[in-house]
Amino acid sequence: ISRFPLIPVRGVPLMCSIANNWDTIWAFCPDPSDLLIAAYPKAGTTWTQEIVDLLLHNGDAEACKRAPTPVRSPFLEMFSPPPTSSGLDYLKNTDPPRIIKTHLPFQLVPTRFWENRCKVIYVSRNAKDNLVSYFHFDCMNKAQPEPGPWEGYISKFMHGELSWGSWYDHVKGYWAEREKRNILYLFYEDMKENPRREVERIMRYLDLSVSDEVISRIVELTSFKNMKENPMTNYSCVPPPVFDQSISPFMRKGEVGDWRNHFTPEQSKMFDEDYEKQMKGVNIPFRDLI
Ligand code: A3P
Repeated sequence: ISRFPLIPVRGVPLMCSIANNWDTIWAFCPDPSDLLIAAYPKAGTTWTQEIVDLLLHNGDAEACKRAPTPVRSPFLEMFSPPPTSSGLDYLKNTDPPRIIKTHLPFQLVPTRFWENRCKVIYVSRNAKDNLVSYFHFDCMNKAQPEPGPWEGYISKFMHGELSWGSWYDHVKGYWAEREKRNILYLFYEDMKENPRREVERIMRYLDLSVSDEVISRIVELTSFKNMKENPMTNYSCVPPPVFDQSISPFMRKGEVGDWRNHFTPEQSKMFDEDYEKQMKGVNIPFRDLI
């Protein structure tokens, strides 16, 4: 496995396996019953997928396990690494409704998702915690470019040079379209604060109705501790040449505010000043950022 450089697709740097297959990805046509879970990498994608999967299986973890892949649901734009070698191949062989995952920014989501009025759940996370989580992930994921030193990584994040591009454009892109496209826009910090409330919010969005007892079970099964131990969710299925979890586990800390253990006061100040500029005129209620 090599750390290949990123290739821009319409100005967004993407892994070369994605860029090289771009036309096929762009042409993908989902079924109207398919659900898309979208997020910037490390914002809480896996957590959201797990909640949705359990809601659809009425809280039955055993039923979820019978899914043919341990990595819950097909990853739309992923062509490598194994075991989910191609999201599109998987989709071809699986009947709808499917839970499809993507890290693509809004403007790169195949337009048929919107034409077919698919439901879309977007999960976002405050910029500094998202950055910290991404840094540790890039250290352990050998399919991503080298993160380099921490200081330089902050700069790459601010300049939108990481895989899947600018965090700022990503969160703003879905935010601007959320009402028109009926996107459920979630926040990681809300999920940490009151997981039950957020599970119920997802349930309502999906037009599901499950009992209070099942909701409680889902909250328990999707706690950080349980997901860290669960081989269906902790990515232990992706072998060490790709994910070296001895460097940093996929289920790393699962906390809000870990950025305070990484940013120096100067780095934080510089980041905040730039943040003001990049988010000017857009009021997305991120918390625990200052
Ligand atoms: P940390 O690196 O801060 O621990 P994604 O699934 O989008 O790649 O996001 C991964 C991040 O979400 C990691 O953050 C991971 O620990 C965290 N995460 C995953 N499941 C979680 C859960 N049940 N509760 C809290 N955080 C969770």
